[in-house]
Amino acid sequence: MANIKFLLGLTSLLFLNSAIAAPAGVGKTVFESTCIACHGADGGGVIPGVPDFKRKDGPLSKSDAVLSKHVTEGFQGPESPMAMPAKGGNPSLTNKEVREVLKYIRQEFGRR
Ligand code: HEC
Repeated sequence: MANIKFLLGLTSLLFLNSAIAAPAGVGKTVFESTCIACHGADGGGVIPGVPDFKRKDGPLSKSDAVLSKHVTEGFQGPESPMAMPAKGGNPSLTNKEVREVLKYIRQEFGRR
């Protein structure tokens, strides 16, 4: 019986956690789970071929429309040694999540 109570408690805790975390930080959550491996916590890129989001003439100088298309469908520039995989390699991302993560990237790494 004690075990069941413990499990129920744990389940409601987990539920509460996701209920609180999700609306506030969808973009951050997606970035940290799907994009950070290549783009890095500081947006500077951790693998050769991944651009620095913080550069003035970097990817964030492009429009939202272009960037969301490139994130959704994948993208490789003519001079680039490496491609951005469609949805960062996570096909389950929704259009809304793509919008949110782009918003997060602009907020965190864009020039203000
Ligand atoms: C496997 C590594 C990898 C992962 C994971 C990854 N990216 Fe990228 N990303 C790249 C590379 C490489 C480029 C540069 C492609 C080029 O310029 O040819 C890029 C470019 C971009 C660009 C700029 C596109 C442009 O038009 O210049 C954006 C925005 C971006 N990534 C967002 C994301 C987001 C959002 C995620 C997570 C959902 C993500 N990336 C996950 C490797 C990755």
